[in-house]
Amino acid sequence: MHSSPTRTLGSTGIAVDAITIGTSPLGRDTDEGSAEERSAVDFAIDILTGPFALVDTSNEYAGGRSEQVLGAALAELGDRATSRIVTKVDRDPLTGDFSRDRVLRSYEESLARLGVDRVEILHLHDPFTVTFAEASARGGAVEALVELREQGAVDAIGIAAGDLRDLLAYVRTDVFDVVLCHNRFTLVDQSAVPLFGEARERGMGVFNAAPFGAGLLSTGARAGASYGYRPASDELLAWTARAEGVCAEHGVTLPAAALHFSLRSPLVDSTVVGVSSTRRLNELAALGAASVPDELWPALAGLGAAPTPYADA
Ligand SMILES: NC(=O)c1ccc[n+]([C@@H]2O[C@H](COP(=O)([O-])OP(=O)(O)OC[C@H]3O[C@@H](n4cnc5c(N)ncnc54)[C@H](OP(=O)(O)O)[C@@H]3O)[C@@H](O)[C@H]2O)c1
Repeated sequence: MHSSPTRTLGSTGIAVDAITIGTSPLGRDTDEGSAEERSAVDFAIDILTGPFALVDTSNEYAGGRSEQVLGAALAELGDRATSRIVTKVDRDPLTGDFSRDRVLRSYEESLARLGVDRVEILHLHDPFTVTFAEASARGGAVEALVELREQGAVDAIGIAAGDLRDLLAYVRTDVFDVVLCHNRFTLVDQSAVPLFGEARERGMGVFNAAPFGAGLLSTGARAGASYGYRPASDELLAWTARAEGVCAEHGVTLPAAALHFSLRSPLVDSTVVGVSSTRRLNELAALGAASVPDELWPALAGLGAAPTPYADA
C-alpha cells in the first residue's frame, strides 16, 4: 500500500517517491490470454498497489507489452491502483520515423494500451534515429511534446536517454521539465553529474535510472556480469569486487550501497529501479529503508574512480 509521496519532481509540482519502479521487461514474451500474461498482470497489480508512487514504462518496452500488461492490471484494479504511470514516446518500430506526427501517434497508442485518458509525465525516449536538429525543427518530435503540454494532454515533458551529449542538448533548450538518464550516476560511473547539475539549475526534475547498472551492482562481481547492458570488463569486475569488500566491512551489501548512492544525492528526485518479481519489489522496499553508515562513502571513494564503461561525457 502506498504512503504519501515524499518529494516533488523539480519545479513541476508533481509528487514522486525516492524510488520509481521500472518495467522495461514486463510482459516480454507473453501472448495475450496465456498463463504467462496472467502472471505478468498479477505482478503488475502488485507494482501498482505497492509502496512506490510512479511506474516507468514506454511505448516500446517489450514491444508494447509492458504498457498492455500495465493496462490490464489497471483495468482490474480500477480505483484501487495507488501508483501512477509515466510513459515515453518512441520512434515507429518499423520505419524509425520520429516526427511530430509519430510522437502524437505514439502517445495515442500508449493511452489505448494503458486504458487511460492521459499521463502526467511523458518523455521523449532515446531519440537516436533523428538528429537533435531534426527533432527540434518544425514538424519534429519536440514540437509535438510541447503541443501536448500546451493542450493539457500531459502536465510535464521529459527527455529520457543515455548519451550525455544528446541529453545536454535537449536540456539546454529549456523546453523540457524533466530529464531521465540511465547507468551514468552510479557507484561506478558518475558522468551524469554535470547533466543533472544543469537540469537542477533550470528547475528540472531528475530521474536517475538503473542504479544497479542493470546488473553488476545488484549481482556483484560475478563472471559474465554486465554493466549498462554490456559485459563488464575485467578491470570493472575487479573494482566491483573491492567495493563489495568495503561494503561488507561497513555491514552493508553492494546493492544497498548502489541504491543509497542515488537515493542520498540532492541531484536526484527519483531513482528508477527495474524489478522482475513481487519478491524483488518487496526486497526493494526493504533495501530503500535500510540504513547505510555515513562512513561508507569516503571508504568507497578511497577505492579511486572505477574504470567507467562510457565515453560520452
Ligand atoms: N532510456 C531510458 O529511458 C531508460 C534506459 C534504461 C532504463 N530505464 C528505466 O529504468 C529502469 C531500471 O533500469 P534497469 O532495470 O535496466 O536497471 P537497474 O534498475 O539498475 O537494475 C535492475 C536489476 O536490479 C535487480 N534488483 C532490483 N531490486 C533489487 C534488490 N532489492 N536487490 C538486488 N537486486 C535488485 C533486478 O534483478 P531481478 O531481475 O532479479 O529482479 C534487475 O535485474 C528500467 O526498467 C526503465 O524503466 C529507462
